[in-house]
Amino acid sequence: MKALILSGGKGTRLRPLTYTGAKQLVPVANKPILWYGIESIVAAGITDIGIIISPETGGNIREKTGDGSQFGAKITYILQYEPLGLAHAVKVAQSFLGDSPFVMYLGDNLVESKLDLFLDKFNSKHLDALTLLCEVDNPTAFGVAKVDQQGKVLQLIEKPKNPPSNLALVGVYLFSPAIHDAIAKIQPSARGELEITDAIQYLIDQQKNVESFQLSGWWLDTGKKDDLLAANQIILDSCLDLTIEGAIDAPSKIGGRVHIGVGSNIINSTIRGPVMIGENCHIENCFIGPYSSIANDTTLIDADIEHSVILKGAKVINIEQRIVDSLIGERAQLKPAPQRPKALRFMIGDDSTIEL
Ligand code: DAU
Repeated sequence: MKALILSGGKGTRLRPLTYTGAKQLVPVANKPILWYGIESIVAAGITDIGIIISPETGGNIREKTGDGSQFGAKITYILQYEPLGLAHAVKVAQSFLGDSPFVMYLGDNLVESKLDLFLDKFNSKHLDALTLLCEVDNPTAFGVAKVDQQGKVLQLIEKPKNPPSNLALVGVYLFSPAIHDAIAKIQPSARGELEITDAIQYLIDQQKNVESFQLSGWWLDTGKKDDLLAANQIILDSCLDLTIEGAIDAPSKIGGRVHIGVGSNIINSTIRGPVMIGENCHIENCFIGPYSSIANDTTLIDADIEHSVILKGAKVINIEQRIVDSLIGERAQLKPAPQRPKALRFMIGDDSTIEL
């Protein structure tokens, strides 16, 4: 069994962060989203992993993630020149996949469940495809499945206007090599992509064994800011222990599960967990409230932050109002004007949102 992680694409929904970096590298609890997928695949005993990358962000992914040795895996990077669809990515990876069955994992998805249960079902029933499904409130935003009582998939539609059910396709799929023939038979969809849903539908139409597995735990597609904050909250809730490796001065108060990384200094501040603070951060006269992740090399002075994700090297200095539900990009700076301004001065990237 091999694994193929899809980390190409354009990441338009997380702009402006994804103008400069890959959306799969945006951190959740200070760890890139992509790494959760790699760890889950390795935990299921699969160590031969291909990662689809794009020309724009592939270098960044490769540099951070490396050859896989840090995960106990062997990673092969596969360049997809244009994001022409999930099935197109499989086509590009065909020589890596050979005739091996494989798990396909979307690099921007976070799934709570272990992969073992799905692998057992796939292997024991000799399936050609196993899709994971999860009930959602907004099925029009996903691929949607119609299944019979036994979980057999009858129909799949990508982002339907009139969804036949509220069962969304989760970004984890298991395939036998029969998927390659199906991909060779399908045509690009109206949006110009080779859709994996169409390839699976082809397998169904050919009476191949296609079944589904309904997830009971949480699953998050981290494509948008609020999804990312929700993922951060869930991971901090479930995976954080109290670890203090940095320095905390006497007036500071630390409550609940808080991680403070090596070289970080907490001065005259209150940190109320769950909170994750990376390495070499300077935090002074601050309140950091629950569900915040602060990446390495961040400076926070005279600030009040809650339920937010602050990326590497950002500076937030002397902001009067509480900052909530926010995502602040790498090296971004938030600071007041030298005097109470009559006019506001901005340098704001495309697709930014500022609520004053
Ligand atoms: O998250 C689950 C959903 O993922 C499913 O319900 C949908 O059926 C499936 O099509 C997919 O929809 P998205 O709109 O979320 O796909 P997105 O374009 O965000 O791509 C998912 C991942 O695959 C992301 O990490 C980027 C990568 N990708 C995407 C395309 C189109 C590639 O590597 N190459 C590509 O050509």
